[in-house]
Amino acid sequence: MEHDHNLVSGEFQQEEDRQEYSLRPRRFNEYVGQNEMKENLQVFIASALKRKESLDHVLLYGPPGLGKTTMANIIAIELGCSIRSTSGPVIEKQGDLAAILTSLEPNQVLFIDEVHRMNRVIEEVLYSAMEDYTLDIMIGQGPSARTIKLDLPRFTLIGATTRTGLLSTPLRERFGIPLHFEYYQPEELKQIVIRSAGILNVQIFDDAALELGKRSRGTPRIVNRLLKRSRDFADLRTGGVITLEIVEETLNRLGIDSLGLDKLDRTILAQIIEIHKGGPVGVGTIAASVAEETDTIEEVVEPFLLKSGMLRRTPRGRVVTHKAYQALDLPVPDET
Ligand SMILES: Nc1ncnc2c1ncn2[C@@H]1O[C@H](COP(=O)(O)OP(=O)(O)OP(=O)(O)O)[C@@H](O)[C@H]1O
Ligand SMILES: [Mg+2]
Repeated sequence: MEHDHNLVSGEFQQEEDRQEYSLRPRRFNEYVGQNEMKENLQVFIASALKRKESLDHVLLYGPPGLGKTTMANIIAIELGCSIRSTSGPVIEKQGDLAAILTSLEPNQVLFIDEVHRMNRVIEEVLYSAMEDYTLDIMIGQGPSARTIKLDLPRFTLIGATTRTGLLSTPLRERFGIPLHFEYYQPEELKQIVIRSAGILNVQIFDDAALELGKRSRGTPRIVNRLLKRSRDFADLRTGGVITLEIVEETLNRLGIDSLGLDKLDRTILAQIIEIHKGGPVGVGTIAASVAEETDTIEEVVEPFLLKSGMLRRTPRGRVVTHKAYQALDLPVPDET
């Protein structure tokens, strides 16, 4: 998602990817939080295994970095099968998807990331595949064209999306197990930090881990990244031990405030307050004024501001609440 635009970015990015991979939980018992989801899934998986059937199709949705890809992989591992992974935008033709579907093994998991970004025409192939485990293939053209039905092995489709609203209704309705990801609590993120610190072989104090948890926008990917940046400062200051002071210094330098808001969050709130008198203002206007994509605002920035009650959606656009004024240390106007 985020890329460093410098000369060594290639290498740097690869190293980060490799580390993110090593921090990824492999089993339910390593996966922190989302407890209700885990408990339900464990029941569904156990019962599918007992009946020797494929698990019903699963839709994982929620903001970036909350553990959707991780969960898809865990489900496959717990089912004891391998996972075929692809993503919506890379499937270019109906034939590409047909080729993947016909090559699946019985009860295998097919993971389609960014499933909302699949072309609608291609998506239609999935309807009969998900519902009846058949594939309708067109042969020939014009008046002599006909379709033949091909039987597919039973399989489990796991789709992941940050935007369930962008999923077509026929596709969304074919997922028997829709699962919504919640932002994590500071205590849960603290547990993730402690686990990650163990894997990365760094020492961290409890209060330091909790502070990282409080200032990571409820997101495991962010808490892991802030842990690594804190380690960088700790290497220079304390011989590698991460203290509360180190965390505070790191986050201050990165421009992350005590509520976990970063520069972009604060700029957006400030723009709405200063230029648009608190709103309502359309998300497109907000995006343009901070030179970001509307999608980025809607997918990455806004959900956390909504969840923390600083922003509200109204039919006429976004409005800030008194919490936004407080977060920016501004006087709260009377009407909010
Ligand atoms: N519940 C969890 N417990 C421990 N670590 C987690 C958990 N969820 C996510 N992580 C960590 O956060 C990282 C990001 O998770 P993941 O890639 O699964 O997010 P995602 O929801 O697929 O994000 P995106 O929408 O950007 O694809 C993982 O590498 C993993 O280390
Ligand atoms: Mg993912």
